[in-house]
Amino acid sequence: MKILANDGISPAGEAAVKKYGFEISTDFVAQEDLVKTINEQGYSALLVRSATKVRKDIIDNCPGLKLIGRGGVGMDNIDVEYARSKGIEVVNTPASSSLSVAEMVMASAFAFSRFLHQSYKDMPSTGATEFKALKKAYAKGTELRGKTLGIVGMGRIGQALATYALGCGMEVVYFDRSKESIDLTWNIFNHGDVTVTLKRSSLNDVLSSADYLSLHVPAQADGKAVLGADEFAKMKSNLILINTARGNSIDEKALLNALDNNTIKGVILDVFENEPTPNPALLSHPKIASTPHIGAATLEAQERIGLELADLLNEKLSVNA
Ligand code: 3PG
Repeated sequence: MKILANDGISPAGEAAVKKYGFEISTDFVAQEDLVKTINEQGYSALLVRSATKVRKDIIDNCPGLKLIGRGGVGMDNIDVEYARSKGIEVVNTPASSSLSVAEMVMASAFAFSRFLHQSYKDMPSTGATEFKALKKAYAKGTELRGKTLGIVGMGRIGQALATYALGCGMEVVYFDRSKESIDLTWNIFNHGDVTVTLKRSSLNDVLSSADYLSLHVPAQADGKAVLGADEFAKMKSNLILINTARGNSIDEKALLNALDNNTIKGVILDVFENEPTPNPALLSHPKIASTPHIGAATLEAQERIGLELADLLNEKLSVNA
């Protein structure tokens, strides 16, 4: 059976897919050529990340397609229910990237709090001539210890993030639609396990008490942002917002207004409403630090994802399945 991994797969994942007896191609096929290529090459499975869209056109016109695999968490780029209604297996790897996304949130919070994102850009060009001015410009950093992290959405990634933040001495408050309380257990390297129980707060309380706020909710199917003008109005003026979830969780216009009116201090965006062509006003805004959707882009996460996809292919498609 032939597999197309259109957004790539880790070397370990590719090797595991081959070991299970599948043929795999990682040659990228442009969106508009996918139907033709899948049919001509006789691919049985299409593996994607978030870049390739698997919509009705592909599902309807590729009768040989038996499985769509999302290497990652969010499946908003796939018409999941429609594919399943046509008898196509749709799978993802929901647990593999939690730690990487959580580390990215912490890295972003630390970096933004010390102006590292700006300093790293300025030093190569003006560090030798404007050293003192830069030192002054970046002199008012802040610490994370003792600050409050608000988490909206307490799934796997939210929980992983909470363990990192608690480990750094932050207070963690969260809102989640379904989880009223949560027991977090994690290991302190070579020093045994720690368990902490957190109780849900109202969304309003999270918004109004957080110094840092991180979103971990899925793409909003109804298009209604989780954070808009009303929510920004409830936040502290020193709030640093971090979004590694999906762009449409934030009303980007309301966000720009909130920044321009000093309603909140700053934002770190890894995801955008209009990927892969985000609004330039966001990218160039002095109170926004941004990255190109790389929350899950670590060697470790991608290796786990690739291996999990290989196992899923073997489980769902192997002749013995
Ligand atoms: C996910 O939903 O898994 C993340 O947003 C990562 O997306 P990516 O696989 O395109 O990096």
